[in-house]
Amino acid sequence: MRSYFIAGNWKMHKTVAESVALAKELKDKLAGCSEKVLVAPAFTSLAAVAEVLKGSSILLGAQNMGPEEQGAHTGEVSVLMLKDLGVKAVILGHSERRHSYLEGDALVNKKVLLALKHGIEPILCVGETLEERESGKLEAVIGTQVREGLKGVDEGSLKAVTVAYEPVWAIGTGKTATPEDADAVHAYIRKVLAGLYGEQAAKAVCIQYGGSVKPDNVAALMAKPNIDGALVGGASLKTESFVPIARFR
Ligand code: 13P
Repeated sequence: MRSYFIAGNWKMHKTVAESVALAKELKDKLAGCSEKVLVAPAFTSLAAVAEVLKGSSILLGAQNMGPEEQGAHTGEVSVLMLKDLGVKAVILGHSERRHSYLEGDALVNKKVLLALKHGIEPILCVGETLEERESGKLEAVIGTQVREGLKGVDEGSLKAVTVAYEPVWAIGTGKTATPEDADAVHAYIRKVLAGLYGEQAAKAVCIQYGGSVKPDNVAALMAKPNIDGALVGGASLKTESFVPIARFR
């Protein structure tokens, strides 16, 4: 049976106490869930949430990391620090980082390679703005983000990579791509991957959809052949919405 990867990106929300409370509820309510489930709290809550998640199948994720292992990089958090806390996956190249903090493909690629080097699974986010979509640049934008983001990643390491398609215009807006539109972009991402790594390897890559995923639209999205999971923002902040998303079937 196909297994889906459902990840919650808590973004810049929740104090340590609030994060612990949510993680405890999720641990309880998602026990035995058949999907691969991950939560990505803020850096400040990682250690406390790691403690709560001990003995649970919910994986711990981070929302970003610095591009160097260590050194004089004020304000950055390193891959070694994340690994030390038991972080299994890291969200990289999220559109909020690309757009608000001007992270480019080369920087994202550096982080992807560093995460892989240390055994942390990168979740490489890609996505187009509304303007890019409307001006016919969708495939060029997505193709570049995938190719540049994965530069230097060999076929063996590709297994550890998740690609998350998050159309910028669908994030936090309540506008979801239709399952058909999302699936078409996922199919295109797989085509780009097949060009880089061959059909077989491309087929095995998990491609998540993100952008206003909710309990009432998750099943239709996951039913599409090229959609292998969800990267959930707003709806991951409450058990009432995240639990039914993770238990959509
Ligand atoms: P929303 O689910 O709030 O639209 O956010 C999606 C997202 O950016 C997840 O990384």
